Amino acid sequence: MAKAAAETRKAFTPGKLGNLQLRNRIIRAGCFEGMCQEGSCSDRLIEHHTAVARGGAAMTTVAYCSVAQEGRAYGHELWMREEVLSDLKRLTGAIHKEGAAASIQLGHCGYFASKADTGYQPMGASRKFNLFRMSFPKVMTEEDINSVVQQFARSAAMAKEAGFDAIEVHSGHGYLLAQFLSPYTNKRRDMYGGTLENRMRFPASVVKAVRQAVGPGFPVLVKMNLTDGIKGGLEVEDAVVIAKRFEAEGASALVPSCGFTSKTPLMMLRGNVPTMEMVAVQKGLSKKIGLLLFGRFMVQTYEYNDLFLMQDALKVLKAVRIPVVLIGGICSIDNLDTAMQAGFEFVEVGRAIIKDPQIVNKWQRGEALVSDCDHCNRCIPEMDKGGVDCVCNTKGPLITKKKGISAAYRA
Ligand SMILES: Cc1cc2nc3c(=O)[nH]c(=O)nc-3n(C[C@H](O)[C@H](O)[C@H](O)COP(=O)(O)O)c2cc1C
Repeated sequence: MAKAAAETRKAFTPGKLGNLQLRNRIIRAGCFEGMCQEGSCSDRLIEHHTAVARGGAAMTTVAYCSVAQEGRAYGHELWMREEVLSDLKRLTGAIHKEGAAASIQLGHCGYFASKADTGYQPMGASRKFNLFRMSFPKVMTEEDINSVVQQFARSAAMAKEAGFDAIEVHSGHGYLLAQFLSPYTNKRRDMYGGTLENRMRFPASVVKAVRQAVGPGFPVLVKMNLTDGIKGGLEVEDAVVIAKRFEAEGASALVPSCGFTSKTPLMMLRGNVPTMEMVAVQKGLSKKIGLLLFGRFMVQTYEYNDLFLMQDALKVLKAVRIPVVLIGGICSIDNLDTAMQAGFEFVEVGRAIIKDPQIVNKWQRGEALVSDCDHCNRCIPEMDKGGVDCVCNTKGPLITKKKGISAAYRA
């Protein structure tokens, strides 16, 4: 790879997201860091994102920040409030110093909430049993819905005050907004359930309220599902309609993803299922045994392919005028080129940057062609062990490497 050739690639040219100028088109995807013990921003979180910013990404996304204390799936998730603003200002300041922009993913986990961790009863669209928490949620009233809309708006305004340059609304992966969009979890018979128009009402109100809270031009990305991967769940045809609605409500860009955390957790990732590592981080013997015995029914295997969401994401791309950000299996310079040539204006990269925070610089300088992330997914349980990290870097790869990159999880 000639150095000049790498530098002139579209992925390394500046791009505009709303009124924000980004130094290139590579965004670090929101990957829960597990570094917010007591729900606060830690020095480790700041160091983590500073390293990503130093590594060349145009923008780094601070993952899952709940809009309310009860919207957390785990006790070590951040939640937006006055007390965390000064630390968040330190975080955004450190990212900016490295020349990158800072985004924050705002969400509410709905019926994935942990009563043990947060003290709150989980709530959701309908009384649907949740395998993830082995419980039934409280069915949300209209008052609850309006209150969450306000929580999103309030959190977005606070994020802007804390120096974030963009907001990513989490409307995918089975989290609360996705629980309303999905016919699998939304069985309501009021104006928030039934038809797609009704199921979109609450998530669309959130996007509208966030837009109003941050003002015109401020980048609001929406991460949404193309498909839940469940029988009776959301499918791509619906996702195209939802994408258009989010655009109409003021989204600046869309990030189409997939999967439902409680039912198809590895669909959004693909590759190896790190069963033993997941068992090890379960709290309590019964949970460990349960996962060991029934894990293969709860955590299915999905074959990994580079750019694994591209074909479905193209359907969204064709339907909207705002930028669409390609996510899922972007691991090489070739992948960046393919995404840009297909019309995606930005990409979000998760595991390749967890593996090597310098990978964007290396791609840009022509020092690497391909990430050597082997999609072993052992970074996932690390979130519950004090902070996300690449296990290959510390304990070695899961499988023997060939030609500098593991081939085991490639098609
Ligand atoms: C350790 C880890 C944590 C993740 N946490 C989140 C999260 O908090 N929110 C989210 O929307 N996606 C999350 N994801 C999914 C990523 O954002 C992304 O969709 C997925 O990793 C596919 O991109 P990749 O192939 O570049 O890794 C996580 C992924 C990983 C590996």
